Amino acid sequence: MKSINKLQQKWGVGQVQFWLIMTTFALGGSLSGYLNKLILKLVFLDKNLAYWLIYPLLLTILWPFSVILVSFVTGQFSFFKGYLGRIWGRLSGGPSTMGSKMGSETLGSGHSVSTSPIHVAIFASGAGSNAKKIIEYFENKTTRIKISLIVCNVPSAGVLDIAESKGIPTLMINKTEFASTGYVESLHNADIHFIVLAGFLWKVPEVLVHAYQPGMKIDSSVVNGKVNTARGIINIHPALLPNYGGKGMYGSRVHEAVVAAGEKETGITIHWVDAHYDEGDIIFQARCAVDASDTPTTVAEKIHVLEHQHFAPTIESLLK
Ligand code: GRF
Repeated sequence: MKSINKLQQKWGVGQVQFWLIMTTFALGGSLSGYLNKLILKLVFLDKNLAYWLIYPLLLTILWPFSVILVSFVTGQFSFFKGYLGRIWGRLSGGPSTMGSKMGSETLGSGHSVSTSPIHVAIFASGAGSNAKKIIEYFENKTTRIKISLIVCNVPSAGVLDIAESKGIPTLMINKTEFASTGYVESLHNADIHFIVLAGFLWKVPEVLVHAYQPGMKIDSSVVNGKVNTARGIINIHPALLPNYGGKGMYGSRVHEAVVAAGEKETGITIHWVDAHYDEGDIIFQARCAVDASDTPTTVAEKIHVLEHQHFAPTIESLLK
């Protein structure tokens, strides 16, 4: 059971998808064995030495094709395209011709412009209204930016329903492992390039901050022979940092503090994530008035409007 969980985390897939993948492996394996015997039977009259020498070679060639064929039926084509692409990339030590990360156009000048997707993981612990807005913003656009994974630490979080309704894989994380490994391997295996914290309440461990510093290599991600690199981690905070930030300043607590202090304005801050709460460099801020009649609840509503309006376009401009 433990090893099943480990594999699920490594591949960044939920339980249902995990079993579909295992079924694909099993059926693909059987199909390649069957085809292998069929072909050999047609070529060789008896099982001589040549038969047994060719047997494993042909099986190795037939296996990926059989698995890909079955993956169409089980709905796991994307997973296997990436999986086999990574194996091929490692074996050839060069460009992956099967992987989902493949993709570039060569301009007349000889410069290469990547057309491969930029995979984004959204980390969220709550309702996920920001996650939903971001998903919807990019799903109807012609863009390289793909929201490929929702990472969550609360089993009852609304964001999980959103992920399910949008068909986006989820990764449930636990605090001990998050603090020690940052789930870097799982994120690399899911080919995640960029991380967005949208209402995620745990502190990001240094190991993850380090692994996703812009320019850090993503081991499993190879495009045209080049190892792909991380694009960073960003967070949204519901106040104008550096005010009303830091440990314990989240959700309604922020708006309560803003109203209690009699602030005349508040706003949102989108910033890079470092190993300290709410201290990374500021990327974007937007402001709104706090009126005398405002309560923490009405301030929260104004903040959500700003967040929904600006978060996705900010992500887009960072990943251009
Ligand atoms: C947002 O206000 C965000 O600024 C804060 O948590 C809230 C998440 O809201 N970090 P939702 O779950 O996206 O609706």
